[in-house]
Amino acid sequence: MSLTAENLTLGYAGAPVIEGLDLSLPEGRMTAILGPNGCGKSTLLKTLARLIAPQGGRVLLDGTDIHARDTRALAREMAILPQAPQAPEGITVGDLVKRGRTPWRGLLSPWRAEDAQACEAALAAVGMAELADRRLDELSGGQRQRAWIALVLAQDTKLLLLDEPTTFLDLVHQVEVLGLLRRRNREAGLTVISVLHDLNLAARYSDLLVLLGRDGPVAHGAPAEVLTPENLKTAFGLAARVDPDPVTGGPMVIPL
Ligand SMILES: Nc1ncnc2c1ncn2[C@@H]1O[C@H](COP(=O)(O)OP(=O)(O)O)[C@@H](O)[C@H]1O
Ligand SMILES: [Mg+2]
Repeated sequence: MSLTAENLTLGYAGAPVIEGLDLSLPEGRMTAILGPNGCGKSTLLKTLARLIAPQGGRVLLDGTDIHARDTRALAREMAILPQAPQAPEGITVGDLVKRGRTPWRGLLSPWRAEDAQACEAALAAVGMAELADRRLDELSGGQRQRAWIALVLAQDTKLLLLDEPTTFLDLVHQVEVLGLLRRRNREAGLTVISVLHDLNLAARYSDLLVLLGRDGPVAHGAPAEVLTPENLKTAFGLAARVDPDPVTGGPMVIPL
C-alpha cells in the first residue's frame, strides 16, 4: 500500500511541528525517517497512522484520505508500533501478540486456527517462540522490543509503521530485526516505514530515506541522494564525511 502526504502540516495544540510536507512513500518499499531528537519524526509517523489529525493537508492511503476510512478496515491495512508502547501489567508475551489479531476478529468470535498460526509465525519470526508464556515486564529491553514487533507482525497488514524499532537492541538484534523486515518486504511486498537513528543501518536497509531537520524537512529520496555532507549539516548540524560503504557501496556516514 502506498502512503502520500499532501501539503501536510502537523503538530499538537500550538505551533506546527512540520509545515507543508509533501511525501510519497510507494508500495513495497522500505523507508526510514531520520532526524535529530524533537524534529517531529514520531509526530509524522502518528499522523501517517491517523493517531493524530493533521493541522492541514491530507494523508492518502492508496489514493484515498485515511480519515475517510473505517477504523477496523484501517487496522487491517496498517499497523503502527509507537515509540513507547504501553502494555497491561503482568501480560504475557503470548497474550500481547494475540492482541494483534483484534482487527481480524469479531467481538464474540472464537479464537481461530488462523489467529493462532499468525501469532506463532510472528513469535517465531522474532525468535521469541520459547518465551510466549513469560511476562513481558520480566524480559530484557531487547526481548520486550521483539515481543512488540511480533504483535504488529501478527496483525498481518500490508503496511507497517515502526517508531524506533531497534533502539533498545544490541547490534546483532538490530541487524536481525532489520533483516527480518527486509525479508518480509522482498518476499511478501510488505511496505515498511520506520523511524531509525543509525544512519548507516538506515542507508543499508532502506530504499528511501526521509531526512528531517530542526527547521523542517531537509531531503527525501534514495539513500545516496539524502545522506550528503550538506544535508547532514543542515539536519543535524553535524560535520561528516560520506564514503562508499565497503560492503554495499551505499553511503556511509563518518562524523568528523
Ligand atoms: N503529545 C504531545 N503534545 C505536545 N507536544 C508534543 C507531544 N509530543 C511531542 N511533542 C512536541 O513535538 C515536537 C516533535 O516531537 P516528536 O515528534 O516526538 O520528535 P522526535 O520523534 O523526532 O524526537 C517536540 O517539540 C515535542 O516536544
Ligand atoms: Mg520520536
